[in-house]
Amino acid sequence: MPRKIIIDTDPGQDDAVAILLALASPDAVEVLGITAVAGNVPLHLTQKNARIVCELAGHVHVPVFAGCDAPIRRKLVTAEHVHGKTGLDGPVMADPTMPLQDMHGVDFIVETLRREPAGTVTLCPLGPLTNIAVAFQKAPDIVGRVQEIVLMGGAYFEVGNITPAAEFNIYVDPEAADIVFKSGAPIVVMPLDVTHKALTSKARVDVFRAMGTEVGRMVAAWTDFFERFDVAKYGSAGAPLHDPCVIAYLIAPDLFTGRLVNLEIETQSELTLGMTVADWWGVTSRPKNAMFMGGINADGFFALLTERIARL
Ligand code: BDR
Ligand code: CA
Repeated sequence: MPRKIIIDTDPGQDDAVAILLALASPDAVEVLGITAVAGNVPLHLTQKNARIVCELAGHVHVPVFAGCDAPIRRKLVTAEHVHGKTGLDGPVMADPTMPLQDMHGVDFIVETLRREPAGTVTLCPLGPLTNIAVAFQKAPDIVGRVQEIVLMGGAYFEVGNITPAAEFNIYVDPEAADIVFKSGAPIVVMPLDVTHKALTSKARVDVFRAMGTEVGRMVAAWTDFFERFDVAKYGSAGAPLHDPCVIAYLIAPDLFTGRLVNLEIETQSELTLGMTVADWWGVTSRPKNAMFMGGINADGFFALLTERIARL
């Protein structure tokens, strides 16, 4: 039985590849809907980008909702320096024709969790956690109905990418992250510690280009654009494809290894705002609230991604 999921996202080239991976894998996941959030770029672009990606995959029936346009109590920080002005810079893309749903993304999350049997819907946040936290605040009854939250965010040994201490998704809305990590819902975290171990390379991207499909060409063009930032920053040969790790985990969890730990979010310090403090070594007695992943079979991950993207 495929797992029912809601993808909460701020596309973003790597978000786009994650959405494609999910849409290409109906045997493993059923995408009930996609909720956009402000993050890499403002909301009017992330909701549009989510629709562009669905249309590219030929899945125009997937309902796409616009959620929150700003973090709970901070000014939005965006990442055009990584993703470009549109959030999906790289290839030239036409505007989508499939509609945006009227309902607010937060209401879709609440209604879906209330409608579906308890414990059967997994939330897949790929951006700041604003929509999820606002849904939990608005409807605390849904928290216990969540099967699992599998999210991309945070870092521990790898520390920060947007500041020396914090990863982007958590940094943008640390109060939201704090609400989610304190909620009691089961959480699996794909931090930079994992995503930085699965880098693109010329050979890995050439495989997408060589597929001879529109989707393959787009994935290669997005990756080429997205790579330049990390290649320059880290001096690495390629870049991490962060968000697809979330969907890959749902399809093939054995590709990943991790530990159940306590994870707390820094919400006060200016210096370390948004830091994900993971008790990896178990030096406190704080409750274990997150399965924090640390290892990935990178070849297996790219093999899975390639095989699935080729289906579209
Ligand atoms: C995360 O931030 C965004 O820029 C990416 O889409 C990913 O979700 C990585 O820190
Ligand atoms: Ca993202």
